Amino acid sequence: MAKSKLPDLSEWTPVEKIIMERRSTRAFKKEPIPDFMIRRILESGRFAPSAGNAQPWRFAVVKSPDVLAEMEKDAVKMAKVFMWFLDYSRSKFRKLFLKPITKFYIRLLPNELHPVPFGLLKQIAKDKAPVFHDAPTLILLIEDRRGVSSPPMDLGICGENMVLAAHSMGAATCWIGLIKLLMYYPKWKKFFNIKYPYKLHICIAVGWPKVKSDGEVPREVQLVEWYEGSLKDRPRVETQGV
Ligand SMILES: Cc1cc2nc3c(=O)[nH]c(=O)nc-3n(C[C@H](O)[C@H](O)[C@H](O)COP(=O)(O)O)c2cc1C
Repeated sequence: MAKSKLPDLSEWTPVEKIIMERRSTRAFKKEPIPDFMIRRILESGRFAPSAGNAQPWRFAVVKSPDVLAEMEKDAVKMAKVFMWFLDYSRSKFRKLFLKPITKFYIRLLPNELHPVPFGLLKQIAKDKAPVFHDAPTLILLIEDRRGVSSPPMDLGICGENMVLAAHSMGAATCWIGLIKLLMYYPKWKKFFNIKYPYKLHICIAVGWPKVKSDGEVPREVQLVEWYEGSLKDRPRVETQGV
């Protein structure tokens, strides 16, 4: 059998370069990226793979400064409400009464109340961090729960296509999971028409970066199991990332 011709991979491919160099940006210029770029970004999402090609998503683009300002205001307000109920570290009295309740909620919502978003929520509630980073444009990825298998996974793939496309055009992005805060308001559910089968739990902030974004955020080294022998053999474990 003829051997396949191996590609020359002495340099990163253009796709790898975008993947490695992309960073979340949390400081955007006021001026939005033009609509034709937003449409190209949406197109990269539209062409994402999805289980059964169900394409379990709907997209919305928010550019209105009034709407963006109101979203920020309400998200911060909700962060304050959450922290009022959940942050038991502020006094001995609260520790006594709130700690068991907070622990119960952490069991109920382990992902939402993971220490990282919890820490960020605390900052937001103290007006020390914004929710949407003053981005001039938000792309909302609205999940259609009728998808095949795992619609949230499809949504992640779709969104990452958009993120990488945006960066390949010189724009910057930041995923915003905290848009979920708005879903506690019937007003925003109505505004974005979020009712069954739709669910809004993620959006992407996009714009021109104000500054060069922070350096690399470290990634964990992975121990990867390679199964190359017979059924009786244990896998060879290789360290990926050093
Ligand atoms: C699903 C998801 C939700 C995220 N939500 C937020 C968020 O609400 N606010 C924020 O500032 N960053 C958010 N991020 C960005 C992550 O913090 C960031 O990707 C991570 O720290 C790695 O940094 P990097 O993107 O610069 O490589 C989110 C990322 C993902 C994938």
